[in-house]
Amino acid sequence: ALLGVDIGTSSCKALLLDAEGTVLASETVAYPVSTPRPFWSEQDPQSWIEGARKAIAGLRAKAPGIEILAIGLSGQMHGLTPLDDALEVIRPAILWNDQRNAAECAEITAAIGGEAAMLAATNNRMLIGYTGGKIAWMRAHEPENFARLRHCLNPKDYLRYRMTGTLATEVSDASGTGMFDVAARKWSDAVIEAVGIDRAALPDCAESHIVTGHVGAEAAALFGLAEGIPVVGGGGDAVVQTLGSGVIDPGDLQTTIGTAGILASSLDRAAPNPEGRLQVFCNVAPDRWHCMGVSLNAGGALSWFRTLAANLGHAEGGAAELDFAALVEKAARSPAGARGLLFLPYLNGERCPHPDPEARGGFVGLTWRHRDADLVRALLEGVVLSLRDIHALMEQMGIARNRIRASGGGARSALWRQIQADMFGCEVATTEGASEGGAYGAALVAGIGIGVWPDAASAAAVCRPATRDLPDPSLLPVYDKLFGLYQGLYPALETTFA
Ligand code: XUL
Repeated sequence: ALLGVDIGTSSCKALLLDAEGTVLASETVAYPVSTPRPFWSEQDPQSWIEGARKAIAGLRAKAPGIEILAIGLSGQMHGLTPLDDALEVIRPAILWNDQRNAAECAEITAAIGGEAAMLAATNNRMLIGYTGGKIAWMRAHEPENFARLRHCLNPKDYLRYRMTGTLATEVSDASGTGMFDVAARKWSDAVIEAVGIDRAALPDCAESHIVTGHVGAEAAALFGLAEGIPVVGGGGDAVVQTLGSGVIDPGDLQTTIGTAGILASSLDRAAPNPEGRLQVFCNVAPDRWHCMGVSLNAGGALSWFRTLAANLGHAEGGAAELDFAALVEKAARSPAGARGLLFLPYLNGERCPHPDPEARGGFVGLTWRHRDADLVRALLEGVVLSLRDIHALMEQMGIARNRIRASGGGARSALWRQIQADMFGCEVATTEGASEGGAYGAALVAGIGIGVWPDAASAAAVCRPATRDLPDPSLLPVYDKLFGLYQGLYPALETTFA
């Protein structure tokens, strides 16, 4: 079998996959994030190693005696794991959702010659989440730590080092450092210089399916694995889970409705990133790129509404639990368009298409005749409208909407899937692998690496649909009109966001 290991933000997930794409066993082990100051987000790299060790042990117990042919690694992107010359961890890893380094990102961008120069070098902006700004922050604020800094690794690549003794990364995670020339699929010396780090501090970078090393003797004992198993590059979670949903052809879209919402697609060239509003990375397939936009308020908006609805009518502290399914079910009693009610989901600012932490949400068009069902319906529709708004940017890159592979908690709702199908006007399917996150895609990449599948397209083909929802063509004009109104809301309301 193939072993996929995902170093997530809240847990490590490991799974075993067979050559038909069936999950034989999976195991998840949670670990904490620490927030030593507001807007900081850090993690002890040792917790990833412990998480992986326990998750693999759990798999072994569930599926004893299964031979592991290859390992693929996936992980939260953009994190900085700083190592000294003895390869010891210098300080806790600074994670993707840490917000401390706005000033450094602006300095790096200025040093290379501005936004346009940064886009020309990497096809991305230096976003606050990306690794480059975290390194610059260490240089400015922790000079003693920075003086010891010899190696910078992304989270999954630290696990790779502990498994194989090799310092290496692959193109998808490297893209998310902000220091990678995504079009040329190699490190950008110009940005590395602007960040102010030695090129030698960054690991060698290969295509994602290439074998980067083998499980060593010490690691074999630690992780309960046979010595010598090949470990392939793998991929950054957001990229590799797109392959894990079976999305490899340009125009096939992947949506994730979790706390945040993601719309992703594959590209067959490094098409220019419109104003840098999207994230354009190398795909785990060597002849493909990856394009995505992240909306910060998706399932999170529904959770907010659920708490609100549960608390209404209850004395302080006496909130009843309200079932998600029951809440979503209510929306079925409201028609498409929610009787003229629109929801703008920016409850926590927004990233794409409006990079604006000050953006605010709202219900717009409320009347006496609106019922609870209409509010829920407008909310579900608003979340999907925000994904379609991301797609409007992708359209500028020539990305069609042929079909959708849906994942995340939101994909469990038949109604919410139907709204996606009707609003995008294409089929929406879910797959077994998509619900497994990055670990599933990483196991597929491992299989490509050792020749189980000849290429990414063959690996993607094992991702079979579990559910399939077809669009109602009569609703497309209704939703096209709604989308036009929705797109007008942000510019109209921007000045009221206080
Ligand atoms: C991708 C991103 C997240 C992290 C955390 O750009 O920020 O998906 O990879 O999982």
